[in-house]
Amino acid sequence: MTISASSLRVIGGTPLTGEVVVRGAKNLVPKAMVAALLGNTPSTLRNVPNVVDVDVVSGLLKLHGVGVERTDGVLTMDPGRVDHAEPAELNVHAGSSRIPILMCGPLIHRLGRAFIPDLGGCKIGDRPIDFHLDALRQMGAKVRKENDGLYIDAPGGLRGTQIELSFPSVGATEQVLLSAVLATGTTELRNAAVEPEIMDLICILQKMGAQITVHSNRVVRIEGVSELTGFDHWALTDRLEAASWACAALATKGDITVVGAEQEPMLTFLNVFRQVGGQFEVNDGGNGSAKSIRFWCPEGGQLNAVAIETNVAPGFQTDWQQPLVVALTQAEGLSIVHETVYENRLGFTQALNTMGAHIQVYRECLGGSTCRFGQRNFSHSAVISGPAQLHGAELAIPDLRGGFSYLIAALAADGTSTLHGLELIYRGYENFLAKLSSLNAKYEEL
Ligand code: EPZ
Repeated sequence: MTISASSLRVIGGTPLTGEVVVRGAKNLVPKAMVAALLGNTPSTLRNVPNVVDVDVVSGLLKLHGVGVERTDGVLTMDPGRVDHAEPAELNVHAGSSRIPILMCGPLIHRLGRAFIPDLGGCKIGDRPIDFHLDALRQMGAKVRKENDGLYIDAPGGLRGTQIELSFPSVGATEQVLLSAVLATGTTELRNAAVEPEIMDLICILQKMGAQITVHSNRVVRIEGVSELTGFDHWALTDRLEAASWACAALATKGDITVVGAEQEPMLTFLNVFRQVGGQFEVNDGGNGSAKSIRFWCPEGGQLNAVAIETNVAPGFQTDWQQPLVVALTQAEGLSIVHETVYENRLGFTQALNTMGAHIQVYRECLGGSTCRFGQRNFSHSAVISGPAQLHGAELAIPDLRGGFSYLIAALAADGTSTLHGLELIYRGYENFLAKLSSLNAKYEEL
């Protein structure tokens, strides 16, 4: 995709109204692309968004010899010839992506070994990969850490085993799924993540011929098979982008219809959206039109303070937290946000305070249960006092969701703001400048 501006001048104060189309989930599509490596025939992935993360993984697959063709929204991947790639090239190309760690299992199945460059990803915590490496070792892999990255091999191939995660990590669950499907024997994964994107990846693997059963208590059982074929799959909609536009409607007192949004994967978000005072209307496509959800701010714009706690699915998704915090700056009273998934995902609130918000962060676990980060010196709870009149400011974008949150804040503020580092938003929000224009946002690319 072509990235245009890196900085933006935003004139706030205009309610966002209109319709945006949201396509495949940024947190599913790259994993589906990695799964294509496991097939002995080509795969087709549909509803693919034009976001940088897809470009990066397309490049990584090509470096490994995979044929990747792309028309608008459709990716075809031909893993007929999979080769090793040069570590130096992978290091340059992987850049900000964390996806290379998920290529371990498929590359070990295809080539007997894998090289993983140092990983990027949003600076919202330490982002360790110990769960991934422990799982691979338990399945028989040897991991060697060098200064240019990780060298992983499994001379005898990967074998099924029992793995228990100490936290329902999305990435580690994907790691086990992508490694166990062609392993020898059965793998029992305990305390697995069950986010909608994980379930969509399981659907993809099942289409390829994998034998995966999901039990009610976060236990996932994978029976290794000898071969997998390619898949043809329509990626589930990005519920994180959909929620971001919903929060933009609240914060700017607007009215936004998100075409593609589906109710079930957003249930927990919709409950909170309603508690805050937002209104929504689901069109589940029964009348033949495209599925969509319309989100709008009530007449008069009065929003209610809430206490929320982020959690693994089916709880309130941590990626919904940052855009919602901006809307909560406009709510009457004291709101509480307890971030229990990442230890450092509230740093973006400092810049909101320079715009006139009143947000205080705390080390304590506020508003709900005690989490892993309690008393470990991580500022992972926030109290937001509102409503606060936001005014324009100069903002450096810190990460993907924080960046979109700054956009929402600038659009809700009085006056003009300047945002720098839009590249981070391009990673996960398709055509967001064109979408802003279609919603009557006032901005100028710098
Ligand atoms: C995925 O990240 C998503 N990214 C994140 O979305 C999302 O917030 C997260 O899952 C939780 O839902 C992608 O899918 C590309 P985790 P992931 O492993 O897999 C700790 C966005 O904005 N952990 O579930 O990296 C970790 O530090 C992004 O779209 C370990 O300690 O998340 C964190 O505290 C941000 N060791 C917690 O688990 C490990 O080996 C959850 O991480 C792995 C994780």
